[in-house]
Amino acid sequence: MKIGTPKEIRAGEARVAMTPDSATQLQKLGYECAIETGAGKLAGFSDADYEAAGVEIIKTGAQLWKAADIVAKVRQPTDTEVKRLREGQTLISFFTPAENEEQMQMAAEKGATVIAMEMVPRISRAQKMDALSSMANIAGYRAVIEAGNNFGRFFTGQVTAAGKVPPARVLVVGAGVAGLAAIGTSTSLGAITFAFDVRPEVAEQIESMGAEFVYLDFEEESQDGAATGGYAAPSSPEFQQKQLEKFREMAPEMDIVITTALIPGRPAPKLWTEDMVKAMKAGSVVIDLAAERGGNCEMTRPDEKIVTDNGVTIVGYTDFPSRMATQSSMLYATNIRHMMTDLTPEKDGKPVHDMEDDVIRGATVAHGGDVTYPPPPPKVQAIAAAPKKEPEKELTPEERRARELAEFRKQTRNQVTLLAIGAVLVLAVGLVAPASFMKHFIVFVLSVFVGFQVIWNVSHSLHTPLMAVTNAISSIIILGALIQIGSSSVLITILAALAVFMASINIFGGFLVTRRMLAMFQKS
Ligand code: NAI
Repeated sequence: MKIGTPKEIRAGEARVAMTPDSATQLQKLGYECAIETGAGKLAGFSDADYEAAGVEIIKTGAQLWKAADIVAKVRQPTDTEVKRLREGQTLISFFTPAENEEQMQMAAEKGATVIAMEMVPRISRAQKMDALSSMANIAGYRAVIEAGNNFGRFFTGQVTAAGKVPPARVLVVGAGVAGLAAIGTSTSLGAITFAFDVRPEVAEQIESMGAEFVYLDFEEESQDGAATGGYAAPSSPEFQQKQLEKFREMAPEMDIVITTALIPGRPAPKLWTEDMVKAMKAGSVVIDLAAERGGNCEMTRPDEKIVTDNGVTIVGYTDFPSRMATQSSMLYATNIRHMMTDLTPEKDGKPVHDMEDDVIRGATVAHGGDVTYPPPPPKVQAIAAAPKKEPEKELTPEERRARELAEFRKQTRNQVTLLAIGAVLVLAVGLVAPASFMKHFIVFVLSVFVGFQVIWNVSHSLHTPLMAVTNAISSIIILGALIQIGSSSVLITILAALAVFMASINIFGGFLVTRRMLAMFQKS
């Protein structure tokens, strides 16, 4: 079958859904690839690049839609494009299904299948297809670059012969995908970065990136984003009040504010009010990533950059990923390619639309003549969702003691049974095996037992560093090799030298990996 990518026709859209690299991968899945002439130009990919990757160049959009069995594009299609769909054809694209009933209906009536990229569920297996995240990541990065472009000073503090420059102070509101990318970029440029989110579970992540989490003096149970599929739940009016108070206090101190706060399906909450903008110093910058959904800042004008009377620049662009078209096309095309991999289990160029598959079902908004939006909740829990525990019943001291005693008895019984089975087995082997074998065998059995007991009690997250250390320790073999290396036989010397070499890799590699792993658990 043929996958085709037309030129994006929305004004200002520079991205393209197929790159020469992704086309090569799609061909490995058994598909032929086609692209409308000039579709990749704004993203930095020429027709010649595509041709070199074996992609057919088609002269017009209309011809491409006709030739392709599967059309992959970036932006929500126009009505003209949807009218081009035909029975059995598949469209993969952003589609904003929540606000696009009409086009879904049109596609369903035509018997086409539509996969909406923003509907890919946020579950671990689907991360490689999650185009919203890959685009938000770029938007977060670009927001900092755009802020820097509009800010008259350095991000990092400097002491130079010409004078002292204080570091910029950046506040990131909303630490989802875009927010975390903005935090990472801002701290790596040397700014003092603060971040706030209604989900307190992101505090540790923010702090591990070198930013400071802004805590509120407030407790609220409903702040659990994990319960809502990895997204935040709306917070109470009291909480919002506290949040605004804190922001009001911080506003005069902040040079750059990047807002990314959003709860899917709702208008962006107004978090940076007009009086906060007025309290900011001249030359400060607000980048409002939520502009498309009304903006987090009261003064944001979507798609525009304005400068307020007190000299604050407010940027409300809604096309940050398109402003980095090469990078975003590469990531988006990879997301599409992974979607096609999921759709093509046999790698034979024929998609199998398995509506039992959580990811495919979740993203499909029209199929088999029906509108299939909204999808049922995924069978697999979202990444952040923790299993709900039944609340423990309060126990009296006697009950607790009785329970502990029962637990202890059970454990002892299990251990005694295991030891008895082990002893019988060793005795059985001893009846037939020679004495010299038994000596080594018993040492072996005991070391397996001790090793098991040691590893069993180590937390799962530390297993890899533990294995790396034991790996290094097991290289005790190097002692044998060192003893043998001076042998009169050249063969033995060569073998011993090889053993020393390999054991050294094991030892140094093991400790190196352990150090790196442990560093991951240390807070900077
Ligand atoms: P996300 O859902 O991963 O993150 C949003 C974060 O905001 C969550 O961590 C949530 O807990 C937090 N949040 C919600 N309400 C809040 C509140 N009242 N106060 C503080 N934090 C709050 O979303 P993602 O993917 O990071 O996108 C962020 C924003 O960026 C969205 O508005 C999205 O539409 C926008 N975006 C804009 C682009 C542009 O070109 N302007 C491009 C891509 C994304």
